[in-house]
Amino acid sequence: MSINIAIDGPAGAGKSTIAKLVAKKKGYIYVDTGAMYRAMALYLYRQGIDVQAEDAAEQIARICNRPQISIRYENGEQIVLLDGENVNGLIRTEEVSRMASISSAVPLVRARLVQLQQQLAAETDVVMDGRDIGTVVLPGADVKVYLTASVEERARRRYQENLDKGLACNLEEIKADIAERDHRDMTRETSPLKQAEDAVMIDSSDMTIEQVAEAILKLTEEMSR
Ligand code: DC
Repeated sequence: MSINIAIDGPAGAGKSTIAKLVAKKKGYIYVDTGAMYRAMALYLYRQGIDVQAEDAAEQIARICNRPQISIRYENGEQIVLLDGENVNGLIRTEEVSRMASISSAVPLVRARLVQLQQQLAAETDVVMDGRDIGTVVLPGADVKVYLTASVEERARRRYQENLDKGLACNLEEIKADIAERDHRDMTRETSPLKQAEDAVMIDSSDMTIEQVAEAILKLTEEMSR
């Protein structure tokens, strides 16, 4: 049986950084499920779906079974393929983020991607991060973590990331954007973001990356005892 570590939490809590580090230390594969939703969002964006349209969810449901989304690994890095095209460099834009936030609430989109995620976790030892991993995708995961941080701290981290990349940004706008995304992720009908009953909550607001990774590795060791 493969070993599965599930890490859920809101945007900007540090899930992917931590999950990557834990996966590297354990020699497991890191599965970034957000990237799969983003690849689907890129497809929908390219198809001209307007997120503002009243019937956007119906339009999305009608075409979301058309693209082929798959992943492969190169030197430990996850490559997301949209109809065979490596889209890693195209899925972190604001437009794709906005589309992913809307389209990930569509049940048919989730059904397709959850199936792919479950298949991966059944075949390999994984650290998988997302919003519904401990609750829906891998309810039987060996370790479940709900990783969070205050809105202020998450906004500050994103702000710093943007500055480091030389991008102009405004802290208050970032904070409002994070709060809006939290609300959407937590209140949607299908698979809302919430802490699984048996998940361990870690608040990373005042912790370093290493401290959080250590805490998760400790949980993993305890599990295997
Ligand atoms: O973690 P991220 O920002 O890359 O996720 C992109 C979008 O996909 C975000 O709006 C949340 C959504 N998502 C989801 O609904 N379920 C997941 N398991 C992962 C991401």
